[in-house]
Amino acid sequence: MVARRTSDSSGPSGAAGDVLEGTPYRALRGLGRGGMGEVVEAEHRALRKRVVVKLVRRALAHDPRFADRLQVEARALAAVSSPHVVAVLDLGQTPSGRPYFVMERLEGWTLGEELQRRGPLPVAEAIDLVRQVLAGLAAAHRAGVIHRDVKLDNVFLCAPGAAAPGDTRVAKVLDFGVAKVLDGALAGAAPGAPPAVDGPAYPTEAGLLVGTPRTASPEQAQCQPVDARADVYAVGLLMYTLVVGHGPFAHVEDALGVLRAHVLEAPALPSRYAAQPIPAALDRAVLKALAKRPEERFQSAEAFAAELGRIAGELAEGGGSWRAGRAPEAEAGWGPQSRAWFEAVGEGTSGVRAGGGVAGVAVEAGEAPVDAWLFAGLTLASTAVFSAIAALVLRGMGVW
Ligand SMILES: Nc1ncnc2c1ncn2[C@@H]1O[C@H](COP(=O)(O)OP(=O)(O)OP(=O)(O)O)[C@@H](O)[C@H]1O
Ligand SMILES: [Mg+2]
Repeated sequence: MVARRTSDSSGPSGAAGDVLEGTPYRALRGLGRGGMGEVVEAEHRALRKRVVVKLVRRALAHDPRFADRLQVEARALAAVSSPHVVAVLDLGQTPSGRPYFVMERLEGWTLGEELQRRGPLPVAEAIDLVRQVLAGLAAAHRAGVIHRDVKLDNVFLCAPGAAAPGDTRVAKVLDFGVAKVLDGALAGAAPGAPPAVDGPAYPTEAGLLVGTPRTASPEQAQCQPVDARADVYAVGLLMYTLVVGHGPFAHVEDALGVLRAHVLEAPALPSRYAAQPIPAALDRAVLKALAKRPEERFQSAEAFAAELGRIAGELAEGGGSWRAGRAPEAEAGWGPQSRAWFEAVGEGTSGVRAGGGVAGVAVEAGEAPVDAWLFAGLTLASTAVFSAIAALVLRGMGVW
């Protein structure tokens, strides 16, 4: 979800008082506010140590689904051990009943902010950052946690020297707020045991799309079961966006259109739109990560990272072939079933319901900017706070 800077009077220490009053922490300033959570910079009252605290928003604090979700996020983070995933330190509840968890405080900014400031990143730098993201996700996957919302705003870029000595910039994955925890993963499943492909998710409602439309995998767009390969797809989008400056479906503006593009539209090669030359091998790797069918993608974050490592090695040696612009459009998984889905759903973007039980799409609320949509797997439409956010429900799309 898109984090917004917060400055209202119910902020961390505004007119309504310190939101962490009665806890070991003192709130200092707001860092972001999403659909469900509020993120504040804080300080441990006794230790004077700076931390970051994520709380369930005040209006949602007494809905047990949100409290559970925050706990799952904290426990998922605790289960993952990686220098490329933000560390969780504590979990608690304010005296007013708002659940919160405490994280290490990172210094720097998000990858989204980095891209806004600098525009597309040089290929070698982008590959390095994406490999770090993949390392964090690989650790999460090993722990049985699928992120499901990997995007620029959920990757933090630590300032040089802040997380590692010297000039090294460390990327850390944030916001496991809609993470899926595979069966038994948080109940002490044997380390290294293969994660279930579709174990029961944490509190979500069947048939609701979870994640962000702009960065949803085709299977998320169709409310199908997801596994680690959904995160591989999202990292493919991330890689594309970092070197090109925008994603492959930037030309599509409405949320339903974007979801349809994820399911049906063949992405162009990054080199087609990039202002910098792109190694042919990187074009191929990105397209592979963006394959519509999970089985045609890299099968794990490690496999994607290994290929990017190979490409980085080639770049360092000055080898490999490069492409600059106008490369032929690629065909990525445009199969007959995809066409059937497209035909069933048609061009409409609102209230479309296909016959025959093949596919149904219902837009439950009005249009909203795609990136501001949140599909959190909860009964969004019934929650007042989301009334301004369109909740798109895709049901029964078992077309693949
Ligand atoms: N540990 C941290 N250190 C520094 N800044 C952080 C940290 N965690 C989060 N932030 C900042 O707060 C913003 C929002 O955090 P996060 O992405 O976890 O929540 P969200 O998207 O607002 O919430 P939700 O759970 O509702 O999706 C981040 O984009 C980042 O700028
Ligand atoms: Mg976020």
